[in-house]
Amino acid sequence: MCGIAGIVSLNDISEKLVGAIKSLEYRGYDSCGVAMIEGKGRKVAVRKNIGSVDEVRDRERLAEMRGTIGIAHTRWATHGGVTAANAHPHCSCDGAFAITHNGIISNYGHLREILKAKGHRFLSETDTEVIVHLIEEHYKTTRQVESAFVAALKELQGTFAVAMITRREPDRIYCARSESPLIIGIAADAHYIGSDFNAFIAHTKTALIMDDNEYAVVTHDSYALKRLSDGSPISRAVQEIQWDPEMSQKGGFPHYMLKEIYEQPQVVNHALDIDREAIRGLAEKILAADKIYFTGVGTTFYVVQLGQYYFSRYAGITPSIVSSDEFRFLASVDEKTLTLAASQSGETYDTLTALRFTRERGGATAAIVNVMGSSMARIVDHLILQGSGPEISVISTKAAISQMIILTRLALETGLMNGTLTQKQYDQHHRDLRKLPALIEKILNEKSGFIHTVARSQAHINHWLFLGRGHFYPIARESALKMKEVSYLHAEGMPSGFLKHGTIALIDERLNSVVFVPPKEEGDLYTLTLSSAEEIRARNGYVLAIAFADRVKKELPFTEAIVLPACALLTAPFLEMIAAQLFSYYTAVTLKRNVDRPRSLAKSVTVA
Ligand code: AGP
Repeated sequence: MCGIAGIVSLNDISEKLVGAIKSLEYRGYDSCGVAMIEGKGRKVAVRKNIGSVDEVRDRERLAEMRGTIGIAHTRWATHGGVTAANAHPHCSCDGAFAITHNGIISNYGHLREILKAKGHRFLSETDTEVIVHLIEEHYKTTRQVESAFVAALKELQGTFAVAMITRREPDRIYCARSESPLIIGIAADAHYIGSDFNAFIAHTKTALIMDDNEYAVVTHDSYALKRLSDGSPISRAVQEIQWDPEMSQKGGFPHYMLKEIYEQPQVVNHALDIDREAIRGLAEKILAADKIYFTGVGTTFYVVQLGQYYFSRYAGITPSIVSSDEFRFLASVDEKTLTLAASQSGETYDTLTALRFTRERGGATAAIVNVMGSSMARIVDHLILQGSGPEISVISTKAAISQMIILTRLALETGLMNGTLTQKQYDQHHRDLRKLPALIEKILNEKSGFIHTVARSQAHINHWLFLGRGHFYPIARESALKMKEVSYLHAEGMPSGFLKHGTIALIDERLNSVVFVPPKEEGDLYTLTLSSAEEIRARNGYVLAIAFADRVKKELPFTEAIVLPACALLTAPFLEMIAAQLFSYYTAVTLKRNVDRPRSLAKSVTVA
């Protein structure tokens, strides 16, 4: 959700600190701010405002701040509107403490009333502000920063990652986490705090990953990690981050979304290179479980839905799929249950909650995750790291295809183990998967121009149906989500067979349909999908088909068609999804949307 950064160094940090929140901006971008300890008088100076990091940097002249220690924040509003007052950092009444926070404090209303009664003045509507006043209140009795910090955090209910500076101890950052991510970056001349690696990857690749219910005291040349419960020290090995700083740059593309769409051939290869043993180990666990749940939310829910279809098709098993936000209200978990989650960030609150729910009931957990060291990566029994590299655009593309490929491999492995697939079939499917990167390249190189033209010509249409059947149904839903989040146009993903049961009443010149046409060899799936397209055309509805070469003849019921190169049945949905990603991207570009940072969204949703 929000992005937290902190730096403590021997040298001036203002530029680096602004750079850190700029790199975290994809986590939340409605307002931002910086607090630094400035000058000999050891003043905690705060500058903050609404807008992007670039806007606030210019408006508040952040570059003119001077100091060697500071914290910063880029916000995605939860409590209180998007105002300068609600932007972080927040300060205590006496101005001695400044804090940034990510998460939600559920008992903040109660704490606020108590603190007000004690004379504290609140300047914002946020839940965060209670934390800093609470620390100030405890300090009055303890006269000791560390114990005041810990005592205040112990009173909080909810989730938090916090970073605090104080003029009372101007050489150190206090930070803590409980269900919201926080990591410490370690370099020779400075230490860093970040919600994720992007906060400091330009300066160091060595990191210490904090766990829940821990806090740390960080100076420029030391860090002490401790338990919030009793202050006892924790010793933990540092980790080397695999990502390169350049991977987080746009590399000449106008948007991260487009760059990441173009990285998909490479990302698919990485997913295919993941050690077979890791996949086989998980397949064994799936076969040993009595009940299997696949979970995720948003895009990752559609990822696991595709996984469900492929498990049914290639392994003869139909796992239950439950959107992770609904998991605890629907899943019936016991010791023989395995829950497999997919998550790019590994921090999504709903998906983490589904995994915790499973653990609490004695079930086994597994996850396909992109971010090493993330909460999910650390709590599951079986982890598969995607290795897709940082996905910066809020719109997930390359991470999703990687997860789909991994789930496909898992289905094939399970199918081979339980005898649904012969070795020959298994080998053929793998050869087909290996051909996928080249086919994706072909689409990117040869179809982008046409897709852009169609997108430009239809961008005035405000309502869209995305229709697919069988394993093209999750692709239709995922593509509708892409269209919604990046273009702000209304889009619904639906099984094409469902259309005639009500939604067909909407067909008119104000609603367009995108139909995901399977290869002709799919038999019924192909003919039934065409029937749905016919039904729309019969009502003068516009149909954009995404279909395969040699299958698109004049008499077919489409208004226009994006024609893709012929491919194996296994890989057809992936290619159609990529065409749809480009279509959403170019629609958003035509409409001049904020492609990488669409309104109201954030990259990792770490709140309930
Ligand atoms: C994808 O484009 C969305 N921004 C969103 O649905 C996302 O996939 C979802 O929030 C899950 O995130 P995760 O993969 O980090 O768990």
